[in-house]
Amino acid sequence: MSSNKLIATAKANTNIALIKYWGKRDEKLFLPMNSSLSITLNNFHTITTVEFREELKEDKLIWNQAPGSAKELMKISSFLDIIRKEAGASLYANVITENHVPTAAGFASSASGYAALAAAATKAIGLDLSPEGLSKIARQGSGSACRSIYGGFVEWQKGCLEDGSDSFARQILDEKAWNVTILSVMVTAGQKKVSSREGMKRTVESSPFYQGWLDTVGEDMEAAKKAIRNRDFEFLGAVLEGNALKMHATMLGAKPPIIYWESGTLEVIHRIQDLRQEGILTFFTIDAGPNVKVLCEPKNEDKVKQALMGLRSVQKVISCNPGEGVKYLSEHLIEWT
Ligand code: PMV
Repeated sequence: MSSNKLIATAKANTNIALIKYWGKRDEKLFLPMNSSLSITLNNFHTITTVEFREELKEDKLIWNQAPGSAKELMKISSFLDIIRKEAGASLYANVITENHVPTAAGFASSASGYAALAAAATKAIGLDLSPEGLSKIARQGSGSACRSIYGGFVEWQKGCLEDGSDSFARQILDEKAWNVTILSVMVTAGQKKVSSREGMKRTVESSPFYQGWLDTVGEDMEAAKKAIRNRDFEFLGAVLEGNALKMHATMLGAKPPIIYWESGTLEVIHRIQDLRQEGILTFFTIDAGPNVKVLCEPKNEDKVKQALMGLRSVQKVISCNPGEGVKYLSEHLIEWT
């Protein structure tokens, strides 16, 4: 190894799926059963610095200014093993990460987390990857992370090869091409009880409704892509809302069933439906947690936000717009001397 410093820092935004990824066909390689489509958000992000060093005997993790737990460190080390293998290197790394995403409450912190880690670690170790290559690496940390490499509207093609070499994301529309408002509506800040990994596994293995999901998600993808091409907000909204409900319906059929919703989730859903009755175009989507993301046109943002803030169970509403993909920062979070 040269005496050059093997350090890099990357910032990645999280993303919200409009057409969900739900179910793996390969647990180890994070290969999905279906393609998915997301918007990268501009307000929730992770910044990660990775430095590989010769004197280290193991990887080290600092997570939000505190030592990472043994469980987190283990996950990150096995992810770094993928990158070490790709680079033909055996060095261990210091990883320091700052997460600006409310974790494990249906806000996809793993997406920005693994996208930033993949970008920083591959650059620090000297791998020169295309966005597709980086997307494939990020996918193996958390499926949804493969979409956070890009800004704007992003499609993750499920691929069909066993080695995963055709399963990566690509941008379909950049963040400046179509402005929509995404409101992150927090009804609880608690940790979710079933991880998305466990939730999807149980659904695939035991839900009689899962086949219905697989039979129709391809049509949802095509419809959503057409709506995005035509900048047809109403059509896109109807498709994404239906897709989210369908994903949650598959979980209700799992054994034991998985119910991520809380009473506040339903309160938000009903308010959004009422707003539509009142003539305001707005739609909701929900990931593996109780919190809701609401989409509206920027001209209606204030009205929708106000309506949601008036609900008893709503603790916080944060506005986002389409955001950019992964980028490298010249300042590192820490440089070990
Ligand atoms: O990649 P994961 O493990 O964060 O799973 C993401 C699952 C959903 O958020 C529910 C859907 C999606 O496509 O992001």
